[in-house]
Amino acid sequence: MQTVELITRKRDGGTFSTGEIAWLIEHYTQGSIPDYQMAALLMAIYLRGMDSRETSDLTLAMARSGVQLRVNTQVSPVIDKHSTGGVGDKVTLAVAPLVAACGVAVGKMTGRGLGHTGGTVDKLESVDGFHVELTRDEFMRILQEHQIVLAGQSSELAPADGKLYALRDVTGTIESIPLIASSIMSKKLAVGASHLLLDVKFGSGAFMKTIEQARQLAHAMVEIGRAAGLHTVAAITSMEQPLGRAIGNAIELREAIDILRGQGPADVSELCYHEAAELLMMTGKATDETAANQIVAQAIQSGAAVKKLAEVIAAQGGNPRQIEQPELLPTAPIKTMLKSPRGGYIATINAEGIGVASMHLGAGRFKKGDPIDHRTGLILQAKAGDHLAAGDPLIEIHARDEQEAHDIQSSLIACYQWSESPIQTQPLIHDIIR
Ligand code: URA
Repeated sequence: MQTVELITRKRDGGTFSTGEIAWLIEHYTQGSIPDYQMAALLMAIYLRGMDSRETSDLTLAMARSGVQLRVNTQVSPVIDKHSTGGVGDKVTLAVAPLVAACGVAVGKMTGRGLGHTGGTVDKLESVDGFHVELTRDEFMRILQEHQIVLAGQSSELAPADGKLYALRDVTGTIESIPLIASSIMSKKLAVGASHLLLDVKFGSGAFMKTIEQARQLAHAMVEIGRAAGLHTVAAITSMEQPLGRAIGNAIELREAIDILRGQGPADVSELCYHEAAELLMMTGKATDETAANQIVAQAIQSGAAVKKLAEVIAAQGGNPRQIEQPELLPTAPIKTMLKSPRGGYIATINAEGIGVASMHLGAGRFKKGDPIDHRTGLILQAKAGDHLAAGDPLIEIHARDEQEAHDIQSSLIACYQWSESPIQTQPLIHDIIR
């Protein structure tokens, strides 16, 4: 088979057979197809798309490119939860221990921040000693002993995605529904949980800017999951403004602890409790929404949920006292309150702009491998729909020094649009695809 024939066929709008896709992935993973040919092929897929059979074949070929953990052969049910990425998205940090505290096992591979979006691994690494590099045996042991494990991405798992993702990142081919769906779902199938909840985000802080694109992506992933025997549900949720109030690493972990104690901001708490309840229903732990909500509320009120977070932190080498006493988490040396430049209702807060500002403070990476500063970030003092007077607190900036705190102020102000009249805010959850 000649790679160039496949490139020209896709360029001209053709389709690939199951065997051709398996051949492409096998040879690219081995290194016998060069990056320049794969880059051309990715651009052809980006422009011409793939039908659902091709997308599913691509996902399966990528999932089989490395080790398959099959966690559900040893622990079942075991859930996985994945967000397509956003700003202030600490949902996994709260939902994973919450569900485990409700008696359902959670086996999750989780990632680092990508562009302006934050990553669960980076947030967890705010805790002294916590580590996510686990062998397969450690992964299974921690899951069996604690009903929860939060591992980092392994190079053994779906290695084809590791190579393809790095190439897409530098060839303008990220925002493609078949490529995103196969990238995410290949990793999920390689882990092999029994139930998967996808949080597919749309809006200014998400990769999918419109609800229609998010819906298409969600349907593509749910279809792939179901065809592979993985019980998959997708929530379509808004990322039009940052989620909750904290954007950063240690400060987001602190907010997740507040959520687990029932003291978090309303929007993100509601989303976390809803997702946890959905997972309890999916796995049969609760028969209906009322029963699921009661189990979730009990885990919060009894303190079991926050205790489970401390337990997994300790199991993976971290200091659990920093969860019990979040004031022990690292904090930035400089805290500056940015005041509102005007009065009025906040109409919108550009989530991507806020994410980029937080990267400038050191909370994210501009290049792969850049170090991050776990202490820095932003705390929003008001959200879309709130009314402020000129001079009211707008954002607390957590910075490494005075200069950095000063330098990002004008770009932060530019993230806000204002209205003279009250704003009707939209619900966070727009749809659930079951
Ligand atoms: N997350 C992934 O794992 N892959 C993508 O392509 C986009 C987001």
